[in-house]
Amino acid sequence: MLSVDIHSHLMPGVDDGSQSPVETVAMARGLADLGVRRVYLTPHQFKLGNHFDPMELDRRTGEVARLLEGAGVRIEVRRGAEHYYGVELLDAISGGAELATLDREGERCLLVELPLNQPAVGVRRVGEALARRGILPVLAHPERTAGLSRDPGRARAWRDAGWRFQLNLLSLVGRHGPEAREVSRVLLMDGLYDFVGSDLHRPAELDSLRAAHDAFRALARHEVTA
Ligand SMILES: [Fe+2]
Repeated sequence: MLSVDIHSHLMPGVDDGSQSPVETVAMARGLADLGVRRVYLTPHQFKLGNHFDPMELDRRTGEVARLLEGAGVRIEVRRGAEHYYGVELLDAISGGAELATLDREGERCLLVELPLNQPAVGVRRVGEALARRGILPVLAHPERTAGLSRDPGRARAWRDAGWRFQLNLLSLVGRHGPEAREVSRVLLMDGLYDFVGSDLHRPAELDSLRAAHDAFRALARHEVTA
C-alpha cells in the first residue's frame, strides 16, 4: 500500500525540492528504507517558471534513475509532474497540448495542485475535460486546500466529477498545519484517498515521513491504490 510514492520533489535543481544529486540520493535512500519500491518524480509545472516538455522530463528522470543505480539505491523512478491549477494549465488543456502525465499500470494520470489560499473555479469542468481526453485527474493534497474543512461537500462534488485524491503523508503528522492534519485524517478515514505521496522536498523531512507512514497504517481502513 505504501510501496508506491506518487508525489515527490527528488529531481535535483529544478524547483524548491532537491537542490543537488547528493540530496536526491539521500531522499531516495530514505524512501527505500521505508519500503517504497517506486517513486514518481513530480517537479512543479506551470509554477516557479517551469514549463517542462514531457520528453525533457523523461530525459531528466532517466538521469535520476542512473544516479540512483550508481549509488546503489534500489528504487524505481518514474516520470511525473505536479501541475499548478492556473491559466497556463487551463490553456494547455483547452488547446490540446501534450501534458506531462504520470502513468500508473497503463492509466494516464495528471497530478494537479490547487491554489492553497484562494478558491479555485471550474474544478469540476477541468476534471471532465481531462476525462474526455482519457486522462485521470488527480488532486494533489486536497487536505491543504483552504476552507475545505468548513465545506466538506466540495470534496464530494470534486470526486463526483471524476477527480481522484492524493494524500500528502506528511499532512497526517501536521507538516502542513493543524487544519490540513485534521482534514487529512477525516478524508482518510472516510476512504476518499486513492493515492498516497510524500511530497518530499528535503532529506530533513525523512524523520517526519517515517512517523507519517506509521500514522497512515494506523488510520487507513481501506485499500489505497498507490
Ligand atoms: Fe508537491
